[in-house]
Amino acid sequence: MSGITTGNSSTYEPLSSVYWGGDHLVLLDQRLLPEEIVYLKLSTPEEVWEGIHSMKVRGAPAIGIAAAFGAVLGGILYEADDSEGWLQQVVKTCAYLATSRPTAVNLFWALDRMKLAAEKLAADKLDTAALNAALLAEAEAIRSEDEEVCRRIGENALPFFKDGMGVLTHCNAGGLATAKYGTALAPMYLAHEQGLNIKVFADETRPVLQGARLTAFELQQAGIDVTLLADNMAAMVMSKGWIQAVIVGTDRVAANGDVANKIGTYGVAVLAKAHGIPFYVACPLSTIDLNTKTGADIPIEERPAEEITEGFGKRTAPQGVKVYNPAFDITPNEYVTAIITEKGVVQAPYHESLKSLFE
Ligand code: MRU
Repeated sequence: MSGITTGNSSTYEPLSSVYWGGDHLVLLDQRLLPEEIVYLKLSTPEEVWEGIHSMKVRGAPAIGIAAAFGAVLGGILYEADDSEGWLQQVVKTCAYLATSRPTAVNLFWALDRMKLAAEKLAADKLDTAALNAALLAEAEAIRSEDEEVCRRIGENALPFFKDGMGVLTHCNAGGLATAKYGTALAPMYLAHEQGLNIKVFADETRPVLQGARLTAFELQQAGIDVTLLADNMAAMVMSKGWIQAVIVGTDRVAANGDVANKIGTYGVAVLAKAHGIPFYVACPLSTIDLNTKTGADIPIEERPAEEITEGFGKRTAPQGVKVYNPAFDITPNEYVTAIITEKGVVQAPYHESLKSLFE
């Protein structure tokens, strides 16, 4: 992998976290933000797998987009000129990329879509150059549709946000986690475009600090009012009356409306309910998994102990201490005021309202 350092920029331009570079995938290395803006050039499915696994690219939609381009790389690396062998290689690549992270369903959604496209293309018995070009077009479509979908999520969310409101968010569900705009942060960008002032409070989001490193960074770059909080400050800030709404993204919504999101989200939802504050979840339909019945069926990723004992370099815990490090938690549906999607806003009972989004 090679990196291009472009340095910090003082003028605002939204950074693209994942895009196609002609014959390779380009990833913004989110592990290095906000200190360094480094773009990586990935040319093999193995490099894409590692990029997703190590969270150089992260956030449910962005992971799906990266994996879709990873499937394209699998096809490009196939050397013979028979559509059957090409299809087998693409299917094998998709199965491999699906092992990179377990919780965000967008990964599996995007890979299933790529597999289906490859099957249809291979049936037409095109030469491999034509197959690769058509498969790339499918990955590009996943990326461009995500941008459009996120904008629509923002439009559907905007009526819940008024000028001067304080809004708390957890983790990063912004432009960096998607093709553009984000999900939970999309209404902030749209409000800003319309001259509304929303005061965003960003939880720092232990242990990987997506709130501090990514949400605070991208909102500040955009000129949006953002205040960074340590995770344990949310209750205090809510009790002061500074927060009128909470909005978060999600990695997977189960059929009953239970929501998997970054560890700590459940606590924020409980606090919101205790303070009478609405708790909104913003996501594309590709994050809703009607095949997963409840939150208890969602696989929760556990990550290395070092993220807690020596996050970003310095050791902060005794050697050998036992550590539990789940990357996500489940917010039960009764804490979710509404789920905001590109197709509209749904509320409880979720097993009915979520299903209606797909009809
Ligand atoms: O571990 P991460 O950084 O991939 O977790 C990301 C989140 O939890 C986001 O809130 C979620 O993926 C939604 S991104 C639009």
